[in-house]
Amino acid sequence: MDSILQCMRCRKTYPIDQVIYACESCGGLLDVAHDLDALKRTVTRATFDSRLGTLDAPYNSGVWRYKELIAPYLRDDQIISRPEGNTNLYNVPKLAKWAGVERLYLKHEGENPTGSFKDRGMTGGVTQARLLGMTRVACASTGNTSASLAAYAAWSGMQGIVLMQNKQIAQGKLSQSIAYGATCIRVDGDFDKNLELVKELSATADIYMLNSINPFRLEGQKSIMFEAVQQLRWNAPDWIVVPGGNLGNSSSFGKALWEMRELGLIDRLPRLAIIQAEGANPLYRAYLTEFEDYQPVHAETIATAIKIGNPVNYPKAVRALEWTSGVVEQVTDQQTMEAKALIDAQGIGCEPASGCTLAGIKKLVEGGIIAPNETVVGLLTGHVLKDPDVTIAYHEDAIPDIHPVHPNRIFTADASIGSIVAILNGDANSVTHL
Ligand code: F0G
Repeated sequence: MDSILQCMRCRKTYPIDQVIYACESCGGLLDVAHDLDALKRTVTRATFDSRLGTLDAPYNSGVWRYKELIAPYLRDDQIISRPEGNTNLYNVPKLAKWAGVERLYLKHEGENPTGSFKDRGMTGGVTQARLLGMTRVACASTGNTSASLAAYAAWSGMQGIVLMQNKQIAQGKLSQSIAYGATCIRVDGDFDKNLELVKELSATADIYMLNSINPFRLEGQKSIMFEAVQQLRWNAPDWIVVPGGNLGNSSSFGKALWEMRELGLIDRLPRLAIIQAEGANPLYRAYLTEFEDYQPVHAETIATAIKIGNPVNYPKAVRALEWTSGVVEQVTDQQTMEAKALIDAQGIGCEPASGCTLAGIKKLVEGGIIAPNETVVGLLTGHVLKDPDVTIAYHEDAIPDIHPVHPNRIFTADASIGSIVAILNGDANSVTHL
């Protein structure tokens, strides 16, 4: 059997080259389903280890190194890649101590070509768009998907179209979408409204939708898990911790881990912990009801990347949590910004949404869910330069309701050595680091 599209709810199948975003029978979300029995016979850990360090496309990409697990039906020359992935997995003992665990690794997806994990999905999505003969691709976005789509559309010679919420899009992300030449449309509506509009647009015009409801995006994002586990020499960690917005990433992680175990690449499943912002927490609320009751919320958070009240991938995220005995936690903006400041001060840096990961780990340890001796892999999803305004405002104590616990204020000196030395001998010594 070749790869097919399959409804996660009623199991109805569709050919891989059909332009379709939801099941025609029941409206369920679609998966790209691969022939795992055939893959079991053809891929091993050694298949992927042998490609490490290669200079040859597409296997030099940290996504396409795992091509058989993502799109086995593609010819190598059909793949549109920057290349992406190959991101660092940082061992961070000081942050581990702060969070209360012995071993913490942070996988920095901000080290992708456009500065977020979205590139891993976008290479899959844009490749599929070209396979289908599309010339226009579109998304709604809180900023990173649009930056990524804009870049990959330009790279592949397609028109990129991005619908952006009218306010609160971070400067770094906005500037990328403009610079890469996408058609940028500010819409008077939030992310959830824009997503509805882009769905409508793709249904009426010849425009391919590249939000994470598109299953080919999620196939690419699975590679984050493949790569993290390979970096740990194929030892599964105890926990994977990831911020949740539209829940595409967490959904793809669940599928990746489940497939890896089916294929014998790992011998046990790590547990997934999805961290939401308290002001954008529909999954967390549903989790408290054991998923009996799901209600969209009006989203508000300083982590604008995850300011999403009605995540489209909710059913897939619930499935991922069920597969992995996962948990959901929420954190306040104060906790997020404090954790971000600590990650930044390690010299690693991340955008606010990624602060949720570390804040969530600390909270889960304090709550007795993560044990101190367990191995944790946390996801940093976006680069520190994505949202410079928020970073500066935090350190200047200029964000209402946020108290900077780890501020690094800018000093002002006269243009004289004496004035500068006075600062270095005085206040500057009191900056707190871990
Ligand atoms: N972190 C960052 C930096 C993001 O940009 C996003 C999502 C998430 C976390 C959440 O991931 O949606 O898969 O649960 N950003 C999307 C966007 C929605 O439009 O850029 P998710």
